[in-house]
Amino acid sequence: MSVRRISKSEYKRVAERMKKIQEEQKLIVSRMRHIKYKIAILSNKGGVGKSFVTASLAGALAVNGRRVGVLDADIHGPTIHKMLGLPTGFGMPARADGTIFPVEVPPGIKLASLGLLLPEDETPIIWRGSLKTAALRELLAYVDWGELDYLLIDLPPGTGDEQLTIAQIIPDLTGFILVTIPSEVSKAIVKKAIAFANRLNKRVIGIIENMAYFRCPEGSVHYIFGKGAAEELAKEYGIEFLGRIPIDPKIREANDKGKLFFLEYPDSEAAKAFLEAAKKVIEIVEGRKLDEAEASS
Ligand SMILES: Nc1ncnc2c1ncn2[C@@H]1O[C@H](COP(=O)(O)OP(=O)(O)OP(=O)(O)O)[C@@H](O)[C@H]1O
Ligand SMILES: [Mg+2]
Repeated sequence: MSVRRISKSEYKRVAERMKKIQEEQKLIVSRMRHIKYKIAILSNKGGVGKSFVTASLAGALAVNGRRVGVLDADIHGPTIHKMLGLPTGFGMPARADGTIFPVEVPPGIKLASLGLLLPEDETPIIWRGSLKTAALRELLAYVDWGELDYLLIDLPPGTGDEQLTIAQIIPDLTGFILVTIPSEVSKAIVKKAIAFANRLNKRVIGIIENMAYFRCPEGSVHYIFGKGAAEELAKEYGIEFLGRIPIDPKIREANDKGKLFFLEYPDSEAAKAFLEAAKKVIEIVEGRKLDEAEASS
């Protein structure tokens, strides 16, 4: 095998890159110390509602008095800024030393996303794995969240670069919340996500079943994608079942209009289910029961 000697200038470039990565990793460690719980929202399947669940859970945690941040780790298809009411290209405040600040939206959620920095929705991001990893590392290193109780990380579908990067560079990731729909196909896919988390030695905090049923205006309930798969899986793997969210056309409309559904329709079944799910998350990760007064305040 022939061995190529690298030139001095190549060596310098590699050394500089390594130094930048080490400095960023140090910054990440120090920023993450100010955030109590870091939770990534995972699903191997696209379009099951990860971003919607992340936005709603963030809203429900904030309403429960928690300081919440959301990081959009979906580099190719950032969407959660719109679900939280901010247009693409809104921008993020930055300081001359490179520190970036998240944008705060009601009910007190701090958001950082590449979607806020893109000029328009149609602008594609055509990056390979290493560039995506670098972008995520930079977001984690340079965004100053201040003190937070929860950072929710909205992942793209699958178990690829973004998921691995988040699991590896956040030193003490609290765990994953899995999102699924109740179809048999999704069951196999959730099993893969559980295996992924186990392989990385990360905790699965719980499973949320989205699009679980549809309630007709006259009251009859239809299980469009099947019934009960997520709860069965949760039992099988000894994982907490966080709740089921119905299909509701108002959810799609609110998301498309850039209104946070959770605040627009606080009395809906879905919003109530998110409040319950948030309470369970708090109980699981903080290890304590919420008393009645605290839960309803
Ligand atoms: N329970 C629901 N009822 C009605 N519409 C929903 C529901 N959940 C999500 N949607 C809609 O389904 C679409 C996909 O949701 P979302 O973008 O949250 O999925 P995702 O899993 O994040 O997708 P991706 O894999 O592309 O990141 C959106 O238009 C959203 O408004
Ligand atoms: Mg998404």
